[in-house]
Amino acid sequence: MFDLDQTIKNRHSTRKFLSQPVPRTLLDEALTLAQHAPSNSNIQPWRVVFAEGVRRDRLQEALLNQAKQQQPNIPPLPEAFQHYRQELGTQVYGAMGIAREDKANRQLAVLRNYEFFGAPVVGIICMHQDLSVADALSVGMYLQTLILCLTARGLGTCAQVSLAGYPEIIRNELNIPPELLIICGLAVGYSDPDFPANHLHTSRESVEKNVTFLDH
Ligand SMILES: Cc1cc2nc3c(=O)[nH]c(=O)nc-3n(C[C@H](O)[C@H](O)[C@H](O)COP(=O)(O)O)c2cc1C
Repeated sequence: MFDLDQTIKNRHSTRKFLSQPVPRTLLDEALTLAQHAPSNSNIQPWRVVFAEGVRRDRLQEALLNQAKQQQPNIPPLPEAFQHYRQELGTQVYGAMGIAREDKANRQLAVLRNYEFFGAPVVGIICMHQDLSVADALSVGMYLQTLILCLTARGLGTCAQVSLAGYPEIIRNELNIPPELLIICGLAVGYSDPDFPANHLHTSRESVEKNVTFLDH
């Protein structure tokens, strides 16, 4: 048994992994637990395809080739939310030692997404394309449950919407059928403790900013 509060606090995104393999038993334990996640009408809409070994390497090569030629197809953030991304960039790139005006190294850091930050295992998180927002919420609840179970077992993770920017490549490389919507990736592996950005705990708003209680 693991301490839930501590696991929630320990979880943060890992952006440099060791090449050390992920024991399949740990992955299986986390996947079995994550199946307990709740879902709308209990339809359990999450579908996950993992790539490791040669398949992972082929996916990386195909994604990197594409990412060097073409911007990912990811909807832009609405104006009101853009400052969060800028603040995140300052924190993450700052921890990586990359200056704001250093566009070349920022671009290289973005490309590291398509190497899954060196993670030996990458999951592709999907759901059926005919489902709706409540079902995407269920997939999100599953994903967080899975991530916490992996965190509790000493593994690092990074959810990666950047991968969904090239859905055709992922579909082709991993034989994902057309009816499955590719939502995001999940890099899984052991965190490199010598990479300062792996120790970054990004800032959060206060509860009051996000939550309102009404009593009359
Ligand atoms: C759905 C989702 C997609 C994300 N996509 C990316 C991504 O493509 N690349 C990346 O470096 N981080 C990505 N992240 C990580 C977020 O930037 C990170 O969760 C957030 O900044 C909070 O930091 P923390 O996870 O370290 O607490 C993603 C997170 C989520 C939940």
